[in-house]
Amino acid sequence: MRIYREKDYDAMSRRAANLISAEVIRRPDCVLGLATGSTPIGTYKQLTAWNQKGDLSFREVRTVNLDEYKGLAGTHDQSYRYFMQTNLFDHIDIIQENTNVPDGLAADPEAECARYDKLVESLGYADLQLLGLGRNGHIGFNEPCDRFVKETHVVDLTESTIEANARFFASADDVPKQALTMGIGCIMAARRVLLIASGADKADALYNAVCGPITPQCPASILQLHSDVVIVGDEAALSKLADAGVEICG
Ligand code: GLP
Repeated sequence: MRIYREKDYDAMSRRAANLISAEVIRRPDCVLGLATGSTPIGTYKQLTAWNQKGDLSFREVRTVNLDEYKGLAGTHDQSYRYFMQTNLFDHIDIIQENTNVPDGLAADPEAECARYDKLVESLGYADLQLLGLGRNGHIGFNEPCDRFVKETHVVDLTESTIEANARFFASADDVPKQALTMGIGCIMAARRVLLIASGADKADALYNAVCGPITPQCPASILQLHSDVVIVGDEAALSKLADAGVEICG
């Protein structure tokens, strides 16, 4: 693992956007695995700015998103499809048909999960998979549980995730209780993983992911077994790792 420390959220976002743009420049038709949540918003803003300036093109890029709330249409303003449209896809030159997010409204969610796994496999898996980090160590919507689930699956969201995401909804009652999420298999099959984290409330999860035991109780800890993981965090998110003397660049 390589860990980069940036002084704040903006610097973290810029560094992450730099790493993503390097991938796109190196391989213009790359497959990008993308994430939602508040953490990647700045990264997407930076990528959008470079694209609009003409420095970076997404014309041939294909994307696969990690997850979607079960029961939300892509037009719902809290769906992850809507998030991706409004934070990135609507503002860049990507071909919309080349963007993929699980369908939260699929009549048969299990079949949708199987379709999604096949799709990601048929694309050859992500060249670079961007990940945020849940406060409980979740990645995508792989919540702490008693085993790592390899396949894309329907998951019951934990109370802590529902609470954490309630800020985006009118109330916690409005947060969907289930989601469709890429499993650990597709995430680990990505050639490179880029995990970004910002803020003191991620410090424990990040510490457990990097230094703790590899356990499905902290899903991000599986990344210790991946051969190419880059973590970009701000000082607050990396504070516990720094205190523990973990090697950090920058
Ligand atoms: C959601 C998403 C995750 C994301 C996490 C953290 O639950 N499914 O992919 O990493 O939230 O979100 P935030 O970046 O807002 O802290």
